Amino acid sequence: MSMFSKTTILLTILALYMGACTSKKEAEDAAKQSPTPSEIAANQPEVHGMEVKSIELSTPLNKEWVTVGKAAYDLKCLACHKLTDEKLVGPGWAGVTKRREPVWIMNMITNVEMMLEKDPEAQKLLEQCLVRMPNQNLTQEDARKIIEFMRSNDGVK
Ligand code: HEC
Repeated sequence: MSMFSKTTILLTILALYMGACTSKKEAEDAAKQSPTPSEIAANQPEVHGMEVKSIELSTPLNKEWVTVGKAAYDLKCLACHKLTDEKLVGPGWAGVTKRREPVWIMNMITNVEMMLEKDPEAQKLLEQCLVRMPNQNLTQEDARKIIEFMRSNDGVK
C-alpha cells in the first residue's frame, strides 16, 4: 500500500471520527445511505444472518496469530477502538472476548453490515456510537488472528 493511500485512509477515518464528535445528524445521514438489506443480499447471496456459525478457541494462545492480529489492529482498527474500556469511535476492546461470544465477534468483523441490520446487540452499539462500523474487508483468517490478539489483550495466555 502506498503512502498516499494510507494517508487517504487516515484522513477518511479522521473525517468519520470528527463527524462522530461534531454532528449526530451527519452520522444519521451516513447511516441512511448504507445499503439496504436487499442490496446486501444481492451482493452477497450466500449471507443470511450470522455467516460464520462456529469457531474454535484453544489455549495456550497461538503467539504468531497474536502478532499478526496486533499488526492488523494497528492498521485497521486502532483509529476507532482503544484496548482499554474507553470508547473512541467504537467501544474499547477491554473485556470484549468475555462479554461476547467469539462467533459474534467473528461476524462483527467479517459481516458487519448484516450484523447492524439484524443483530439486536450490534444495533444497541450503533445507537450508542451513532457511527456504522465500516466493513474492513478482512477474511475469516485475518479476523481469527485479531480475535487471538483480543484474547491476549484480555489476559489469556
Ligand atoms: C471507523 C471506525 C471503526 C473502525 C475503523 C473499526 N470499527 Fe469496530 N466498531 C466501530 C463502531 C462505531 C462500533 C459499534 C457498532 C456500530 O456503531 O456500528 C464497532 C464495534 C465493534 C465491535 C463490537 C465491540 C463490542 O464491544 O461488542 C467489534 C468486535 C469491532 N468493532 C471490531 C473491529 C475490528 C476488528 C476492526 C478492525 C479490523 C474495527 N472494528 C474497525 C467503529 C469502527
